[in-house]
Amino acid sequence: MKSWYKYIKPYKKYFILGPLCMIVEVIGEVIMPKLLSIIINQGNAGELTVASSLMGMGLMILTAIIMMLSGVGGAYYGAKASVNFAADLRRDAFEQVQKYSFANIDKFSTGSLVTRLTNDITQMQNFVNMMLRLALRSPGMLIAALIMAVSIKPDLAVIFAVTIPLMLLSIGLIIKKGFSRFALVQKKVDSLNSTVQENVTNVRVVKSFVREDFENDKFQTANKELKQSAYSAVSVMIFMAPVITIFMNLTTLAVIWFGGNMVVAGNMPIGDLSAFLTYVSQILFSLMMITMLLMSSSRALASAKRIKEVLEEKVDLTDDNATYSNKLVEKGEIEFKDVSFKYYKTSSEYVLENINLRIPSNSTVGIIGSTGSGKTTLISLISRLYDPDMGQVLVDGIDVKDYSITNLREGVGVVLQKNALFSGTIGDNLRWGNENATEDDIKSAASNAQADKFIESFNEGYDTILEQGGTNVSGGQKQRLCIARALLKKPKILILDDSTSAVDTATEAQIRSAFKNELKDSTKIIIAQRITSVMNADMIVVLSDGKITGIGTHDELLKTNQEYQEIYYSQTDKKGA
Ligand SMILES: Nc1ncnc2c1ncn2[C@@H]1O[C@H](COP(=O)(O)OP(=O)(O)OP(=O)(O)O)[C@@H](O)[C@H]1O
Ligand SMILES: [Mg+2]
Repeated sequence: MKSWYKYIKPYKKYFILGPLCMIVEVIGEVIMPKLLSIIINQGNAGELTVASSLMGMGLMILTAIIMMLSGVGGAYYGAKASVNFAADLRRDAFEQVQKYSFANIDKFSTGSLVTRLTNDITQMQNFVNMMLRLALRSPGMLIAALIMAVSIKPDLAVIFAVTIPLMLLSIGLIIKKGFSRFALVQKKVDSLNSTVQENVTNVRVVKSFVREDFENDKFQTANKELKQSAYSAVSVMIFMAPVITIFMNLTTLAVIWFGGNMVVAGNMPIGDLSAFLTYVSQILFSLMMITMLLMSSSRALASAKRIKEVLEEKVDLTDDNATYSNKLVEKGEIEFKDVSFKYYKTSSEYVLENINLRIPSNSTVGIIGSTGSGKTTLISLISRLYDPDMGQVLVDGIDVKDYSITNLREGVGVVLQKNALFSGTIGDNLRWGNENATEDDIKSAASNAQADKFIESFNEGYDTILEQGGTNVSGGQKQRLCIARALLKKPKILILDDSTSAVDTATEAQIRSAFKNELKDSTKIIIAQRITSVMNADMIVVLSDGKITGIGTHDELLKTNQEYQEIYYSQTDKKGA
């Protein structure tokens, strides 16, 4: 509860004024029947004068106006409070997700994070709004109407002592059955969302594999399960309204029967009976609203729990203890000291084992190895996308954990294997690497990445809009844009993770030579599948099954490293000796 108060505090005024207005409205609502009954009673007794009837009417109009104003006020403040509450919550949840390490993100699925930040927060917003409008109003109306009814005719109010407990009992039974079924509905909504998310994100893959039928089936299954669970929850809840109506009718009937007799016997004025009947419906109606509140609070609680999980997820990678938080990466020297790492902390096998590697500044280093050998994992440790379980990664002789994450990542430019562009112009996307880049910076980065020619061939040039993360450029063009974006950061350490795999060999050679000439002051790490991509590097690292099996130049490795030989000969026509 304490953690939610943070989101209420700035809007405390609305959180107080909203329910306050609703209380005023309730008071008006219970006074109204009383005023009417006075007029009826006076009329019935022949005591109604023009003055007293005008006065009664005037009072009723005044009450109606006050009720209307407070009703509008309550709705207004309720909406303002809940919308602001949700907006702040959404902002914090989003900022929290931005802080997540890769390991945190691995834990939640993207689909689930999207559902939590949108759907679940909206559920809470609606709940807060409803609470502000009804949490005081319904119980308030229940109590006030009960008091009024008892004060009018205690003998008649005895009827409630019978009907209310009976009604609560039946509603209780319905809710008990409904609760668990609604919890199941939320779960099914989640899995439906995940299915939709996965399919829509990868709709191109689905189409190219002609898997629409399969995906349709998968969706239909999720949809059917949701339908069934919703149906089963609803099939319990549909009894709610009829049960309440029955009790409402029975109570009314009993009041008319007993009250009618009292009126006939002269024990009760007719106006009081009419007021009493209004209180009957107010009491039963507020009971219904209270049960509705309980119902939706169970759904909101489920959502609250899911949002809390996002907010309270411990970010396992922070720079709070950084010793040199102002230090920038200056030389670009990298060292791995006895580094071991695994993704699943419970697993007994390491993905990287006992890595010892020194990369001098300004050198060009190639990393090669079969798929799954740990190349991407290895370079992820340099910019602290993950932290090693054992050993240390040093940049310029300082543990990467001792840099501020911002400074470290400013100094290390990575073109990730799974890369993405954002919707916007090409220029915007490149400037993403460096907001303050000048026109010339952008052109030179594009030219070093061999992207300038194709960009200029577009009608709009650098103003060409990239659709949905770059679907309107080719795979090789996209890779070159990603490289240009990283180059704009002018990083001391530049890492290309398989970033030229879709670029033809001639263009790739041009990129390599541009790097050699233009990026003399950066350390360059190039992960590649093609030997030609790394052949001319100052140093090549061969990774196999998470271990380094060889370090050396192309010629050295060709003589000494069996795995390197195998890769080399499999990619050339020459036969091994
Ligand atoms: N986010 C992750 N969570 C769990 N396991 C992972 C994750 N990323 C990679 N792995 C596992 O770690 C091992 C090394 O993967 P890595 O991506 O480093 O290989 P790679 O050498 O880059 O392969 P490729 O050449 O195919 O890109 C693989 O067995 C892979 O299944
Ligand atoms: Mg990889």
